[in-house]
Amino acid sequence: MMGFADILDDEEISAVVDFVLTTFVKNKGENTRYHIPENGWENHQQYAIAFPFARGEIKLDTPWEALTPEQRRGKTLFMTSCITCHDRARVDQEGAAWESRPVSIPRGAYSHRKDEQQEDVVTGATPYARHEIAPVIENLTAQERRGEQLYQDNCAFCHAADGSGKNWIGSFLEPHPRNLTDRQFISVMDRQKLLVAISDGLPDTTMPAWKSVLNSEDIEALAAYVEKAFFGPR
Ligand code: HEC
Ligand code: HEC
Repeated sequence: MMGFADILDDEEISAVVDFVLTTFVKNKGENTRYHIPENGWENHQQYAIAFPFARGEIKLDTPWEALTPEQRRGKTLFMTSCITCHDRARVDQEGAAWESRPVSIPRGAYSHRKDEQQEDVVTGATPYARHEIAPVIENLTAQERRGEQLYQDNCAFCHAADGSGKNWIGSFLEPHPRNLTDRQFISVMDRQKLLVAISDGLPDTTMPAWKSVLNSEDIEALAAYVEKAFFGPR
């Protein structure tokens, strides 16, 4: 059981506690619906060909030749996108019915943008996904727009597109990349300190010194964007 302190805030954790207490402890609820849009599952029905495997209606180790073409497609989908959670699917022969492999996120051609194709349902359902969406800001100056491009290309990888550092990679780095939207952090930061941090990096952390990669104009554009996008009104 991993800690959720870096993924959920206090309010969200107490909402989960309330939910678990009310639904399962007090009302003895058996299960609840997991596959809903709020959990990142838009249109669960589109995966219907894999349902028989998730529900145990078709055993996972049924010989391939015995499956219809549609069931084969269903099994393929199940093995790539569902088994990470549904690992108790029914089998005839006990023992591993699949080989585990490390999952990195986002996978394949997946995009968190709603208007682009969402092929990988596991990536879409991750709690990290919502931090991979850049804020939409109107009226950026030309300099800030340049900064946005530089930030999303070079910094979002660690600090998340929304500046929170609560994305997949950020959650694994120690120390975590700074949450650039944190009020405490913002209150002690100013343009000059930002420029120095970006230029020189931070010793003993993975924060790189960007002065060897970017010129001073780029670094100024980055600082301008970070302030505009993440610091908000002071
Ligand atoms: C991130 C974890 C996770 C992944 C990935 C996942 N499931 Fe589930 N699924 C659950 C949980 C938890 C439940 C049980 C809660 C419930 O009944 O809604 C469930 C229940 C179900 C059920 C029974 C309830 C229902 O909604 O009909 C089906 C069918 C199902 N999943 C299909 C799938 C398919 C198909 C995939 C892959 C495309 C998939 N699941 C991937 C977590 C997951
Ligand atoms: C490889 C991961 C990584 C990348 C890429 C990265 N950072 Fe960082 N950043 C970090 C880490 C880790 C910290 C330090 C957190 C700490 O000390 O608690 C940090 C700290 C910061 C800070 C806080 C500095 C301070 O004085 O507290 C700023 C501002 C910052 N990064 C901006 C950026 C910008 C802008 C970029 C892109 C040009 C960038 N970072 C790219 C990992 C990264």
